Amino acid sequence: MTQRLMEAWVETPLEQMNVAVIGTGHVGLITCVSMAAIGHSVRGMDIDEAKIAKLNLGISPFHEPGVEDLLRKSIEQGRLSFTSDPGEALGDADAIFICVGTPARANGEANLIAVEQAARDVARYTKSGTIVIEKSTVPAGTARRVEWVLKHERVDLAAELLVVSNPEFLREGSAMRDALYPDRILVGAESSQAFTRMRRLYGPILERGAELIETDIATAELAKHACNAFLAMKISYINGIARLCELADADVVDVARVMGSDPRIGPHFLSAGLGYGGFCFPKDLIAFERLSVQLGYDFPLLSAVARINDDAIDNTVRKIRDALWNLEDKRVALLGLAFKPDTDDVRFSPALTLASRLLDEGAVVVGYDPQAATDAKAELPDLLIEHDPYDAVRDAHCIVLCTEWAEFQSLDLDRVRELVAYPVVVDGRNAFEPDRVTSAGLHYYPTGRPDMPAHALESVHA
Ligand code: UGA
Repeated sequence: MTQRLMEAWVETPLEQMNVAVIGTGHVGLITCVSMAAIGHSVRGMDIDEAKIAKLNLGISPFHEPGVEDLLRKSIEQGRLSFTSDPGEALGDADAIFICVGTPARANGEANLIAVEQAARDVARYTKSGTIVIEKSTVPAGTARRVEWVLKHERVDLAAELLVVSNPEFLREGSAMRDALYPDRILVGAESSQAFTRMRRLYGPILERGAELIETDIATAELAKHACNAFLAMKISYINGIARLCELADADVVDVARVMGSDPRIGPHFLSAGLGYGGFCFPKDLIAFERLSVQLGYDFPLLSAVARINDDAIDNTVRKIRDALWNLEDKRVALLGLAFKPDTDDVRFSPALTLASRLLDEGAVVVGYDPQAATDAKAELPDLLIEHDPYDAVRDAHCIVLCTEWAEFQSLDLDRVRELVAYPVVVDGRNAFEPDRVTSAGLHYYPTGRPDMPAHALESVHA
């Protein structure tokens, strides 16, 4: 994949710009690397000096397929560097991306302090004619506040600064591909000059077929939240159907197949399981709900989506309890700890929420994840960690598949059967092939599908 990502972007004609990116988290770093890959000269800026030092050595602070190769290549080619000095990053930038975090406040609202600080840094250091691009996920109205800060603090540049909203649609695990080969690029702006500048900035990507959708600023900001909330709704919808399937002896995988074959519904985001996690859907959904209430519309669907997502974990705990009877001192092995495969991100990971619920009920919980083990342990110190899936399942009374990493498909289930104390597999992502599990002598408890007893079971007890 890296090879394809690294195709000769720089040979595509481009009006090279000096690009600055404020914030080098997931969105910021991918923005830095993709802008450098298409030929711009990029400076990433972050207040975290230790992170900046690593980035300048070509070390990514997180696991994301393809990012480190492109990071190193762009640094070697002199098109990408990092600094913690805002003056150095912003002083000669033609385009400035704001990619800082917008975590949730206690009441669920997006905390925009870092966005405000970024706007104040821009106001202090920017030159005339710069385009300021709000990329962080923010409530509708935020870019207007950014513009207000800029114009308030730099009366001298007020007529020349352009502010646009350019929300991202990157998915962790495929973020490099999503950035370089996006379905669409969304730009909210209030002048044709701003749209023209954004088309130049993204020139090579647009030339390869991506569509750039133009809207006004508030529409772009709201559309980003609308997309994430809709995707979360699809997941909760299928998880609600999964509950019904369990009660009606039906199969949610087949229901999803039927639904997905209708082009008006589409097949994506209809995988039932432990529900959605990560640093986007849970917080964005609540922030969207708060925004909606603030604007004067109580949008009841949004709270139902969050409630059904919580219920997906409750249902899995119930399933494990049903399979084990009592949880005290039972050893539960969690396969996968990241909130989704191909990332080491454990923020709001359903696997960790489940682990903590099981620990509260007195179980001994051991986890394995190919990338996320260290962060998972830091987040939940009582979780035991193994660095090999077979060590994790050894003596387990129950195995729970929490994250559908591809490597779990090739687990030797006969060997697993020999290692476990009880032959119980709960599939929180419907990722195992049921026959493979049951013919290895393991009882299979999927999500929203009928439970399947083990074939040729020798003994339920060790
Ligand atoms: C999500 C959106 O997909 C991106 O378009 C968006 O840019 C990003 O949030 C963001 O706002 O920054 P991401 O959080 O990386 O991307 O991950 P997704 O692939 O959307 O998965 C989110 C969660 O939903 C994961 O926990 C995943 O396991 C779960 N999921 C996904 C399901 O439970 N079922 C599904 O069918 C699909």
